[in-house]
Amino acid sequence: MMSNYAIILAAGKGTRMKSDLPKVLHKVAGISMLEHVFRAVSEIEPEKIETIVGHKAELVEKVLVGRSDFALQSEQLGTGHAVMMAEPSLAGLEGHTLVIAGDTPLITGESLKNLVNFHVSHKNVATILTAQAADPFGYGRIIRNSDGEVVKIVEQKDANDFEKQIKEINTGTYLFENKRLFEALKDINTDNAQGEYYLTDVISIFRQAGEKVGAYILRHFDESLGVNDRIALATAEKVMRKRINEKHMINGVTFTNPESTYIDVDVEIGAEAVIEANVVLKGKTTVGERTVLTNGTRVVDSQIAADVIISQSDIEESIIEEGVTVGPYAHIRPGSILQKGVHIGNFVEVKSSTIGENTKAGHLTYLGNAQVGKEVNFGAGTILANYDGKNKFTTMIGDHAFIGSNSTIIAPLTIGDRALTAAGSVITKEVAADAVAIGRGRQENKEGYAKHCPHHPEKK
Ligand code: UD1
Ligand code: CA
Repeated sequence: MMSNYAIILAAGKGTRMKSDLPKVLHKVAGISMLEHVFRAVSEIEPEKIETIVGHKAELVEKVLVGRSDFALQSEQLGTGHAVMMAEPSLAGLEGHTLVIAGDTPLITGESLKNLVNFHVSHKNVATILTAQAADPFGYGRIIRNSDGEVVKIVEQKDANDFEKQIKEINTGTYLFENKRLFEALKDINTDNAQGEYYLTDVISIFRQAGEKVGAYILRHFDESLGVNDRIALATAEKVMRKRINEKHMINGVTFTNPESTYIDVDVEIGAEAVIEANVVLKGKTTVGERTVLTNGTRVVDSQIAADVIISQSDIEESIIEEGVTVGPYAHIRPGSILQKGVHIGNFVEVKSSTIGENTKAGHLTYLGNAQVGKEVNFGAGTILANYDGKNKFTTMIGDHAFIGSNSTIIAPLTIGDRALTAAGSVITKEVAADAVAIGRGRQENKEGYAKHCPHHPEKK
């Protein structure tokens, strides 16, 4: 096959988004629209990808740096003008060029491959990726002659009443014979309702020169969505989520209510995992086989192994090993490692700590900056006091240690293997292996005194 190239249009501000962020950097299912478009484009394996940047160019370039070349469009004078910016690097080359807008995140690599094959096999000079829209408002319309041949594209703002009735729309993606594209761009002008250089005008220029122009109609209209405002952004999100969830279901993951489950595009989930309603999985998260995430669990950038149960809990930037149980209502904060078989129960917070195998912290506990051994038991209400207002200190707890309920352990401190702290203790000094530490006032009972207290029935 002939060489192909790609141009991604990403210079616009996206005025209708009402945002400080350039439009193409708004995210859909966890990654920017530009990243979605780039990934789809990569599937046709172009020899060169040229991204046109303009508004907040540095921010946009950051997303694709090292993966794309960039051309600067310092004034956004229209999509045709944007493509002209690629002229110095592409104009002389033999082959075909894909042009795609950076605001169409739902177009798949598969559709782009189909477009390339259609274009090449029909020997077209230009092929437009089109779709049949139920509501075509806002899109350029595909004008065909009585033989069904494409003759031009008319923008919404330039369309007459007849043209506005047409349902076939331009997705903003095209394949062009590369040299002819740059030649035709020399002939476009700004004589239209928006006073812009329209890329779409090259179609009628090719037709007038008697060249072959075609359209490849997308099978799924959903893919064609161009995101111009936040309503369309939410629609894109919805379509993408459905696609992601269905991919996981096909791979053997059970969803109890996929409509209310939010999974970012790069999340990986093993077979036989169960994802209940209102679960949110973000970023670079992985979930192992047979793991169950119950109602309301939120996981960000974490690795969760197989056979884990997370109940209604929040996990951030942490590693959860096999067979761990967490929750309900636990918070595992960044930098935590829960080793095999750990149990973290209700209202427990873990932060920047490694918790050894089979250790249990069942209730109402805070573990921060700790290195905890295996088979340790934390009683209810344990607090590792790790912060003096300025610095964080480490607590080391040995294997098989037993931390009595309501212990406050003032870091930095080491508690040895098999040591025990008595319930209610404030531990300020190191505890040796096999030692018992008691850090609390002794109890004193005063017989009969209660009769003088206001609560006592005899006093009332
Ligand atoms: C464009 C098409 C329209 C099509 C629609 C599909 C034109 C004239 N119209 O309209 O037929 O139905 O896409 O979604 O092409 N951009 C630049 N530089 C510019 C202007 C735009 O890089 O000077 C970029 C934008 O950042 C955006 C893309 O091109 O990623 C499309 O621009 P936009 O203004 O959204 O075009 P539409 O009005 O949607
Ligand atoms: Ca658009």
